[in-house]
Amino acid sequence: MSNKYSYSGFFWKIVITLTGLLVVVGFAYVFITVNLAEMYVQERNQRLNADIAEHIISEVKPYVGGKLDTTATDEIMHHMMAINPSIEVYILDAAGKILNYVAPYKKVKLEEVDLAPVREFIASKGQQYVVGDDPRNPGKKKVFSAGSIVEEGQTIAYIYVILASEEYESASESVLNSYIFKLGGRAMLIALLSALALGILAIWLITRNLNRIIATVKRFQNGEMSTRIPVKEGGGINDLALAFNEMADTIVGNIENLKSMENLRRELVGNVSHDLRTPLAVIQGYIETLMMKHHQLSEVEREKYLKITLESTQKLKKLVEELFELSKLEARQVKPKKEPFFIQELISDMCQKFELLARQKNITLKSATTPNKSLVYADVSLIERVLQNLVDNALKFTPENGQIIVEIDNTDQYVEIKVSDNGPGIPKDQIPFIFDRYHIGDKRISLDNNNTGLGLAIVKKILEIHNATIELSSKLNQGTTFSFQLPQYENA
Ligand SMILES: Nc1ncnc2c1ncn2[C@@H]1O[C@H](COP(=O)(O)OP(=O)(O)OP(=O)(O)O)[C@@H](O)[C@H]1O
Ligand SMILES: [Mg+2]
Repeated sequence: MSNKYSYSGFFWKIVITLTGLLVVVGFAYVFITVNLAEMYVQERNQRLNADIAEHIISEVKPYVGGKLDTTATDEIMHHMMAINPSIEVYILDAAGKILNYVAPYKKVKLEEVDLAPVREFIASKGQQYVVGDDPRNPGKKKVFSAGSIVEEGQTIAYIYVILASEEYESASESVLNSYIFKLGGRAMLIALLSALALGILAIWLITRNLNRIIATVKRFQNGEMSTRIPVKEGGGINDLALAFNEMADTIVGNIENLKSMENLRRELVGNVSHDLRTPLAVIQGYIETLMMKHHQLSEVEREKYLKITLESTQKLKKLVEELFELSKLEARQVKPKKEPFFIQELISDMCQKFELLARQKNITLKSATTPNKSLVYADVSLIERVLQNLVDNALKFTPENGQIIVEIDNTDQYVEIKVSDNGPGIPKDQIPFIFDRYHIGDKRISLDNNNTGLGLAIVKKILEIHNATIELSSKLNQGTTFSFQLPQYENA
């Protein structure tokens, strides 16, 4: 058996995926935190020192009469740097060119500074976080403070102060080395590890049933059809187990259905061949006699034998037809084609058909009906077969001058149909077997009447597939009543 359904492989795949996700989240968190923290420090630095450039302008007055006064400015600016050694001060002209700077022992590489961030800073009055060029590190951006020197309404120069010089940056502790950050990092690591542990536990809890499910599915696959997944209260994947169990039930049910159909069919074939053998043997016997003793037989005898052969053939024909009908009903191959119809009309048609036969026996055949017409919901031709068999029996077994009544009774939801006669009745001990196949009550009558004993079996089956039952009440020497109910169309 292939290993591709292995549970542990599946479990580890989920665990590895979860671990990977947590590592990615951890790194993303550290990256974002470091950057945000550094930006925060810078922004705070800028806000705290936003006024520094304006302060220099008002204190130092680097321009005297529109001219740069280098000696005075140098000195004072040196003082300022002595107080705050992290700053570097630049004097820019109106186009951003560096005119003078105070940054001792340092190499200034840029000749001019981009003025756009400078103007933005001045316009926001130092309230916005802006980074600008670092003249000592081309390409690198730093926070700054700036102010403009205005004479006669014209900006003639800028004071540009880099707030976080290189010395300041290396001296101030990097976020990564900060005590707080290390503490946070440790907490973060603990949080991630606990999340991982909890995650693995959760995955294990949810998926541990998989082992059971996979084992059961494999057993089922190997033909152990009765195996089912035990379903525990609150199990992680109960729905899957339930769905599998239901599916297994359906499959087993279908297989059993097929088996029982197959058995039924086999039984029927057996029965049919057995039932046909007897009349066939009779026919064969008479024909053989006729052939062998052709000359010894009198004309009368020959007539008689031929008549018996003909009768046997007719019986065989009827038997084959009825057996075929019953077989189909029993194999559930006949599905009633239900439709609404007036039961009264069907009954009066039926009575008309049997009228001639009734008259021959001098029997009154009446159909007593209710005044309101009832629509029933059933298969017309099958119900016709039922009525036909019942009326046929009544006519057959009721002696001359008898009476047969077909009645309809309406109840709330059903229409009851009754076929009564005042014939010989059925003995009590016969009643339980009357609907069995081949049950023929009175052998003397049946022999004369070419009976097969299948009529009532067919009636019962037809009503069965209509979800109806046939009732029988009979009194010896008084008569018999067969009745059944069909649903009214409105209630069907
Ligand atoms: N109305 C009735 N009165 C008296 N006996 C009846 C009546 N209906 C049925 N029976 C008894 O029930 C038996 C079974 O009836 P069923 O209709 O199954 O077979 P059948 O009439 O003998 O043969 P088939 O209907 O196949 O020609 C009958 O042989 C008869 O003895
Ligand atoms: Mg009959």
